[in-house]
Amino acid sequence: MSLRAACAALRANGRRLGLVPTMGALHQGHLALLGAARAAGADAVAASIFVNPLQFNASDDLARYPRDEDGDLTKLRDAGCDLVWLPPVEAMYPPGSASVIEVAGPSQGFEGDARPGHFRGVATVCAKLFLQTSADIAAFGEKDWQQLQVVRRMARDLDIPIHIEAVPTMREADGLAMSSRNRFLSAAERATAPLLYQTMQDVARAISAGLPVTQLLADDKSRLIAAGFAPDYLALVAAETLEPLAQKTTAPMRLLAAARLGSVRLLDNMAVPA
Ligand code: PAF
Repeated sequence: MSLRAACAALRANGRRLGLVPTMGALHQGHLALLGAARAAGADAVAASIFVNPLQFNASDDLARYPRDEDGDLTKLRDAGCDLVWLPPVEAMYPPGSASVIEVAGPSQGFEGDARPGHFRGVATVCAKLFLQTSADIAAFGEKDWQQLQVVRRMARDLDIPIHIEAVPTMREADGLAMSSRNRFLSAAERATAPLLYQTMQDVARAISAGLPVTQLLADDKSRLIAAGFAPDYLALVAAETLEPLAQKTTAPMRLLAAARLGSVRLLDNMAVPA
């Protein structure tokens, strides 16, 4: 049965289909997306596992990206996933493919600067997955906040009739945001890693309390460097547009951070109460 036919069967009689796009190496955070899609109204949930070459650039780690297909399939089956789509690269990008989706606005800056072309790849593969499955709901983790805004913008701009459900970041007991890449941290790096979120919590509290944003961000970047991180950015932004903010506003704000610890690039973000 083709993917289209399988999805159409899951959507028969007005049933709503949820989609959880992933690149595999699944952890609790991914499995929470399945539950969130159901909670948002999906009667059936499909997951895709596709390590999307289009969102990796030369300096990125496509070859090093963790893969565990058997483990992923077991986890998805145990979580009650109704359909798993594991397309080969040629199915997603047949020879001669010449179209990509470029989202301006929220793609700019931050991960857009650090990983040129990354969001072009994400937007293109997500649009294809949305259209291939005709899913009614797609669940994305807030862990990749910028990605979430890019995907929302793309679906809205292209009139793709899908609800994007945002799912809060799942954290380890010590606060480290769950990520497939955490497995590459050494024991010493793993012990240091939660300091990123702790620092962000301190910064967010201080911003809410009205302390000067620019100075705070500079001081806390230095604190991260002293602890062994190589911070890429620590920034206060408007939550939806990702426009950098030099002072707090009453509109929703988000604190974004990316920092390298050894060979692992950690990403995190959190809401900043006004
Ligand atoms: O967040 C991810 O795992 C990927 O960027 C996604 C959304 C599955 C697109 O390849």
